[in-house]
Amino acid sequence: MITYLASVRQFQIDTPHSTYALAVVDEGYLCHVYWGKRLAPQDMTALLRLSEGPFVPSKNNRERASFMDCAPFEYPVSGTGDYREAAFGVETPDGARICDLRYVSHRIYNGKYKSAVLPHTWGNGCETLEITTEDKLLGLTVILRYTVFEGLDAIIRSAYLENNGSRDITVTRALSASVDMDDSRFEMLSLYGSWARERQAERLPLRHGKQRLDSLRGESSHQYSPFFALVRPETTEESGEAYGFSLIYSGNFLAQAELTQFCQTRAQIGIQPEDFAWLLQTEGCSFDVPEAVLVYSEDGIGGMSRTYHRLYSEHLIRSKWQYQERPVLINNWEATYFDFNLDKLKTIADEAAKLGIELFVLDDGWFGRRDSDNCSLGDWTPDERKLPGGLKPLTDHITGKGMKFGLWFEPEMISPDSDLFRAHPDYAIGIEGRPRTESRAQYVLNMARSDVRRAVWAQMKKILDSAPISYIKWDMNRQLTEVPSRTLWHSYVLGVYALMEQLVTEYPDILIENCSGGGARFDPGMLYYSPQIWGSDDTDAKERLRIQYGASLFMPPSAIGSHVSVCPNHATGRNTPFDTRANVAMFGTFGYELNVAQLSDEEKAQIPAQIARWHSISRLVREGALYRLGDPFRPSGYAAQMQADYDGWMFVSQDSMQAVFTYVQITAEANMKSRRITLRGLKPERVYHFSLGGEEYARTGAYLMQCGILIPNLWGDMKSVQIMFNAE
Ligand code: DGJ
Repeated sequence: MITYLASVRQFQIDTPHSTYALAVVDEGYLCHVYWGKRLAPQDMTALLRLSEGPFVPSKNNRERASFMDCAPFEYPVSGTGDYREAAFGVETPDGARICDLRYVSHRIYNGKYKSAVLPHTWGNGCETLEITTEDKLLGLTVILRYTVFEGLDAIIRSAYLENNGSRDITVTRALSASVDMDDSRFEMLSLYGSWARERQAERLPLRHGKQRLDSLRGESSHQYSPFFALVRPETTEESGEAYGFSLIYSGNFLAQAELTQFCQTRAQIGIQPEDFAWLLQTEGCSFDVPEAVLVYSEDGIGGMSRTYHRLYSEHLIRSKWQYQERPVLINNWEATYFDFNLDKLKTIADEAAKLGIELFVLDDGWFGRRDSDNCSLGDWTPDERKLPGGLKPLTDHITGKGMKFGLWFEPEMISPDSDLFRAHPDYAIGIEGRPRTESRAQYVLNMARSDVRRAVWAQMKKILDSAPISYIKWDMNRQLTEVPSRTLWHSYVLGVYALMEQLVTEYPDILIENCSGGGARFDPGMLYYSPQIWGSDDTDAKERLRIQYGASLFMPPSAIGSHVSVCPNHATGRNTPFDTRANVAMFGTFGYELNVAQLSDEEKAQIPAQIARWHSISRLVREGALYRLGDPFRPSGYAAQMQADYDGWMFVSQDSMQAVFTYVQITAEANMKSRRITLRGLKPERVYHFSLGGEEYARTGAYLMQCGILIPNLWGDMKSVQIMFNAE
C-alpha cells in the first residue's frame, strides 16, 4: 500500500512487514525518512531532523553547505554541496557537472512501468509511486519510481530520465537506488570470487568510508555480484534485520555502502558510473535506469533470500519453463571437451537414454573447425569433420532414443581465426590503430550494432530451424577490453538484451540456460531471459556447497545450473561420493556432465533412482521456500575447525505439506555422536512422515523444529542424506 500524507508531503510505502518513507522538504528536495519494520501510516518527518542545529537552509542560510552534506537525500546529486557519493550526475557541454533536482509532482497508480529495453519485474498485483523531479536550469526531468508487489517485502526502484531542455546533457551517473540510513550498526554481507570459485560469502562490519563491490568488465562478473545486504551484528540466518540490495542488470555495476562523518550509511546500487556516459540530446531524449530490488527482512538473512526467490521466480523469470518440469540433461563438455565425433556422442547419448536422462546437450566445439578454443567463434555452421551431414544425423539419433536435444552457442564472440572476422573485422570491439587484447583467443562482437546482431542472428536462426533444438546454452567467455567509448559499455548490454529478446520471442518454447565462463553473468538481468544459469565451472560437490549457498542469498536456487560430474573432479582433483554429488546438484537445476558410458556399473545403477528422486522434489526446489540450516562458510564442528563440518538445507512447499531436507557431512570426526538438526519452515501442528536410517517416523512440525532429528555419523567425508517429509 502506498499513501501520501499531504500535510507533511510524506510518501509511505508499506509492504506486509516493512515501511519505507520519503518526503518532500521545503526547498523541494526529496529526502529519505525511514526504512524498517512496518508502521501504521503516520507523520515520520521528525526523523529528518531538519530543525536541528545549523543544517536548515530555509531557517539558517549561513550553513547551507552543511545541510547538503548531511541531509538524507533520496536521489543525491553532485555539485551542490553533498560530498558523499552521488546517485546521479550530469555534464553539460561547458564541462559543468552540477545538477539540482527538485520535486515537481507525483502520482500513485496500480501497475508498473515496463522498460522496452531493459529486463524488468512484471505481473499483476502491484502498485507504483512515481515522483517527478526536475533540474529547471537544465530542463532535465528525472522520474523516480517505486513499485511494490502484493505480499512481498520488496521495493523495486528505478528512474527514468528525459531531456526537455535546449542543451545536450551527458548523464555521467544514474544509479538505481540510494538509501540514506540514519544508522551505522550494520555489517555488510557480500559475495566475492573468481573463475570456478564464484559467490563466496563474506560478512564484515562497516567502517567509515566507502565499501564497494563493482564490475568494470562489461558483465556482472565472477569477482563480485550485483548484490549486498546490510545486516545487524546480531542478525542470523533466521532472525534479525537484513536489508538487501540487488540489481536487475548484467553489465558494469556499483554496489556500495558509505559510512559517513555523522555515522549514517548511504547504501547504493546501480550501473557503474566509472566508464559510463550517456548523451541525452535535446528533443525529449530519454534513458531507462535499471531496476534495483530492495528487500527488508526481520526474519534474518534467510527471510531476505526467500523474498528475493519469490519475487524473481514469480515476477522476473518469464520463461514458461519456470513452472514446468525441466528435463534432466547430460552435457558433453567435461566428458569430451573439444574432442568428439558423431560416434562418441552417440555412445554417450545411448547410455544416457538407457538410464533415463532426458536431454542431451552438445557443448562447445560443434561448429567451424573448432578443435580447441582458438578459432571459429562467429562461424555457426556444423563441423562436417566431427558431424558428417551436420546436426541432423545426431539429432535424429538422439530424438529417436526419446531424448531432447540442446546446443551451445557463444553469440557475442568472434575468433580472429574465423570467416566472420576475415569478412568483417570491424564487427569486433576495438579501437583503430590499437591492438585488440585477446582473451581465450577471442574478441567481443560489438553487440550495440544492429547489423552485427543481425549477422549473428541469421546464423543462429538457420541452425535453430535446421534441427529440433529444445534447449540453448548461451555462453560468454571473456570480458571487454578496448571499449572505444563510455557509452558502449551500456549499449553493449542493451544489444545483448535485444538479441536475447529476439531469441525468446521467436522461440518461446526453447529452454535457455545462461552461462559466462561458469557464473560470470549470474545476475537477475539474465533471469528475465533464461530461467537457469550455469552456476560455475567448478562442479566439485564440496566447493559447490559454498558457491550455491552464496548464489542462493539473492537468486532462486532453481536458477542454479548444477551437474553431477566425474571424480577426481576436473577443477579440484577431489573425490566425493557419487550419491552426494547428486544430492548437492539437486540444489539447483539438476543434470549430469560426464561420460556416462565410462561410469562404473554401481554408479550407473544409481542414476535412474537419482532422476526419479529429482523429479519428486524439483517442484519443491522451484516453488518452495528455502531454509539454509548450515553455513558452509562457518565452523560448525565440536572444535572450531577452519571449515564447516556439515551443511544442510530444506525446501518446503508453499502449503507446508511437503518438504525435503538434504544433509551433507562435510568432514567426518572421530568419536562423534549423531548430530541433532532442528528443522525449519514446517507447520507446528501438522504431523510429518519420514524415513531415516531404514526406520519410519511420524512427528509434528513443532517436534521437528524444536527437538529436531538425529542424523547418525555418516562415516566419511562428504557423505550425505536426503529426507522427504510428507504431512498427513
Ligand atoms: C565455459 C562454460 O562455463 C563451460 O561450461 C563450457 O561451456 C565452456 N565454456 C565451453 O567453451
